[in-house]
Amino acid sequence: MRVPVNLTNSLSQDFEALLIDFLFKQGHLKDPESVRSDRFLNRSLIPHIERLSSHFNRLEFKKGTSFSERSTAELETENYWSSSSNPKNRRLAYFLYFMPPNLYRMAAVWSELARYGYKWPFSDSFRALELGAGPAAGSSGVLAAENISPIGLPKEGNWALIERDQSMLRLGTAWLESYAGYNDFSHWIVKPFQRELNFEEPLLRPSSPQFQLILMSFFLNEIPATPSQKAERLYQLIDQNLEEEGLFILVEPALKSESRKILEFRRELLSLCQAKGFSKLKVLLPCLGEQACAALAQPEDWCHEKITWPRPPLVKRIDELCQLDHKTLGFSYLVLTKSERSHEELLPTLKGSESKNRYRLVGDSYKHGPDQEFFLCGQDGKRRARYKTKEKFKRGDVLKNVELRGAHESTRIVKGEKL
Ligand SMILES: C[S@@+](CC[C@H](N)C(=O)[O-])C[C@H]1O[C@@H](n2cnc3c(N)ncnc32)[C@H](O)[C@@H]1O
Repeated sequence: MRVPVNLTNSLSQDFEALLIDFLFKQGHLKDPESVRSDRFLNRSLIPHIERLSSHFNRLEFKKGTSFSERSTAELETENYWSSSSNPKNRRLAYFLYFMPPNLYRMAAVWSELARYGYKWPFSDSFRALELGAGPAAGSSGVLAAENISPIGLPKEGNWALIERDQSMLRLGTAWLESYAGYNDFSHWIVKPFQRELNFEEPLLRPSSPQFQLILMSFFLNEIPATPSQKAERLYQLIDQNLEEEGLFILVEPALKSESRKILEFRRELLSLCQAKGFSKLKVLLPCLGEQACAALAQPEDWCHEKITWPRPPLVKRIDELCQLDHKTLGFSYLVLTKSERSHEELLPTLKGSESKNRYRLVGDSYKHGPDQEFFLCGQDGKRRARYKTKEKFKRGDVLKNVELRGAHESTRIVKGEKL
């Protein structure tokens, strides 16, 4: 994945000031300068950040021992917004420390779509939905990227946000309205819906409209259901509530356990589509196709992306104070669409390459003498490959028109061009 320099620049400049100004104007911060004080951070934010961080990393601190893993069932049922003795500070802590990286992850995914030449296929007013929206990190990530690497979203439209926590939803709605105005999308209307989504029943009401874009950012992993139950519910959502040509984007944690769940979800969704004769579901990113997942075939493997970002000074200071590390951002993701068009039509950069000769780097690249070594993922599975080239490669790069020699465990790339 390549994050455009402009996106990095735009978020390194006044983004943090914008967040603080917003919180101050909304009455969530009494004094905008307070976030510069370690005393304030230590007393009001860090206990919540540590608590949320161990929750999201599925860890629990047991007295007298080190961190141990918490059971998924226990985590999935915990409502961390209402279980705090100071919910206001907990929301503030999430907004300042966890929302910006999630915004950036979604922005990176949106920019990646733009990099492949994807163009917004609708001409009418825009309709989007974010599920488990929290502070609307996903929607605001799309906004941030659309301003820098536009795929052509119209200036008028509606965002529906669904979230179970009323106060978080209020915060997310106000933030998205304010950030849309800042990004020159002031005609977008944000509609909040407080609802606890239950994956045992249809997620939306029969009267719900169709959407052109559906987002989930760090939400699906919180749902207590198996990958096949999730696939069934989201298949229904895609079938009934995603407009033809619409996009469905999921961003999830990079943790092995959670990343494998999204891969299992992908497998289940594709097999459901096959069973129902639903050929319109296309996996755009990161897989560039609907082939069986090669990472899932190995019990110890998983698939995630890693990007660097302009870590805001406040996030950096909090990292230092609580010995966390948000220098790079990991995540797993899927971009799906409901379309009869081919991958090459949807992502024009792929034109002139055949899917069977196309491979994506799914790990970091290492130098071995004159060679670079990395893992490749393609239609025929995953390979450890070496390539004698002066060109530099990064995780997420795509090679087209590739000619290979040798077995999966030690392949030599004879020829290939970077996309
Ligand atoms: C980790 S937060 C992610 C928030 C935001 N999407 C982001 O990327 O920062 C997950 C959000 O999903 C919400 N959530 C969890 N389960 C839910 C459910 N069953 N229905 C609606 N919202 C839910 C939580 O309240 C929380 O705000």
